Amino acid sequence: MEPPATASPRESTQTLRLATDADEPALLALFRPIVAAGEGYPQHPDEPITPEAFRAYWIAPAVAVWVAEVSGELVGSYTMKANGVGRAAHVANAGYIVGRAHRGRGLGRRLVEHSLHQATLLGFDAMQFNFVFADNPARSLYERLGFRVVGEVPAVIDGAPVLIYWRKL
Ligand SMILES: CC(C)(COP(=O)(O)OP(=O)(O)OC[C@H]1O[C@@H](n2cnc3c(N)ncnc32)[C@H](O)[C@@H]1OP(=O)(O)O)[C@@H](O)C(=O)NCCC(=O)NCCS
Repeated sequence: MEPPATASPRESTQTLRLATDADEPALLALFRPIVAAGEGYPQHPDEPITPEAFRAYWIAPAVAVWVAEVSGELVGSYTMKANGVGRAAHVANAGYIVGRAHRGRGLGRRLVEHSLHQATLLGFDAMQFNFVFADNPARSLYERLGFRVVGEVPAVIDGAPVLIYWRKL
């Protein structure tokens, strides 16, 4: 007889699903403090992002928005879109967020891994991040998952550079 399937606490409490329109307020509530802390995204920390601006940034251009829930609470997300049009549209681009209280438990890694798989299913053949802050802790995660720095753009965010990461899928 097969032994019973065992799930780690992580697997049993984190759920990933596609976002719906009804998730927009919770996604915005997740994104706002990340912007306010100046973490990872270029929006001005002292200008609260409006629902319209958030929709235009995270939702409207996306081919897929996924959310992560823990005990029914929306605590993480990624958005994925084509990094360019036409002959550049085979390269995906994605952004990731995890609420501060839920970090360091593997959720960010799970979102990135999930997005790589989804990108393949959607027909992309590479993934590129255009805007990785040099001091972002996600860099080591990206590098462990096979991304490499293919460029550095000087003096983008308050005089600091941003890195371009890329990997083949
Ligand atoms: C980046 C982010 C999504 C990671 O989420 P997370 O759930 O904490 O990630 P994980 O728990 O899967 O950690 C993944 C790895 O990232 C690194 N990491 C994540 N947060 C870190 C932190 N605060 N300090 C140092 N390393 C950290 C660790 O190396 C970790 O490696 P490990 O798997 O060996 O422990 C989250 O910190 C976040 O939302 N940050 C703000 C938004 C952002 O910067 N997004 C990325 C834009 S490029």
